[in-house]
Amino acid sequence: MSKKHSAATVIGVDIGGTGIKGGIVDLATGKVVGERFRIPTPTPSTPQEVAKVVRAIVAELSGREHAPAATSPIGITFPAIISHGVSLSAANVDKSWINADVDRIFTQELGRDVQVINDADAAGLAEARYGAGKDVKGTVLVITLGTGIGSAFIYNGKLIPNVELGHLEIDGGSAESRASASARERDNLDWDQYAVRLQRYFSHVEFLFSPELFIVGGGISKRSEDYLPQLKLRTKIVPAQLANNAGIVGGALQVAMHHKITG
Ligand code: BGC
Repeated sequence: MSKKHSAATVIGVDIGGTGIKGGIVDLATGKVVGERFRIPTPTPSTPQEVAKVVRAIVAELSGREHAPAATSPIGITFPAIISHGVSLSAANVDKSWINADVDRIFTQELGRDVQVINDADAAGLAEARYGAGKDVKGTVLVITLGTGIGSAFIYNGKLIPNVELGHLEIDGGSAESRASASARERDNLDWDQYAVRLQRYFSHVEFLFSPELFIVGGGISKRSEDYLPQLKLRTKIVPAQLANNAGIVGGALQVAMHHKITG
């Protein structure tokens, strides 16, 4: 049976501290075509183990009807500072990733071109192009609440990469250790208690950057009704429109931009 190949779709893989998710992204719409495919992040999350999972996800997606050509590049997000394809940190993955050449590791494992980007930066790009940040002028901060706290700084639709606002120090500790989604679970907080922590965090970030808009991403963005209404900020704050797919879509988008693939 012949497969339908299209230049308008690209595979995006979003590597998180808890799960690794992939999907086929339609670049014209910014939507994931069909089901996304998720495998829990292996423990320990070493380069070798994570690379195997990414290979399994890409293999599954590549066999699907709407898969792009087998030679097409893959967009990958990674939950760390990424500079020239190299990981400079590892807050929520195995420490052996520090200074690892992430780009080379996945290129070798997959035998295909890859382009790696920080996970929150990917979510930011996706929201700026297809979601809640579309056509917004000035500073838009996308904050992802997950295993850690990720951030993307968008100015007039352009990404300023590797801004690490999850590691701001607040009340003597890192912001993500108090206000990430995993901190909420760890400390058994109900939504009102969690909103108090988010209030502390977002008002500090607001004071520092005076953005036009906050966009809240990550898995719990779909529960935003439970905590966003409690927040008192002068900045508008909205859930990510692409919800938990923003990473996959942004991962695909950035590799497509790099290779000038258009939808
Ligand atoms: C990392 C960021 C990442 C965020 C969300 C933080 O701990 O330092 O690079 O974007 O977690 O995964």
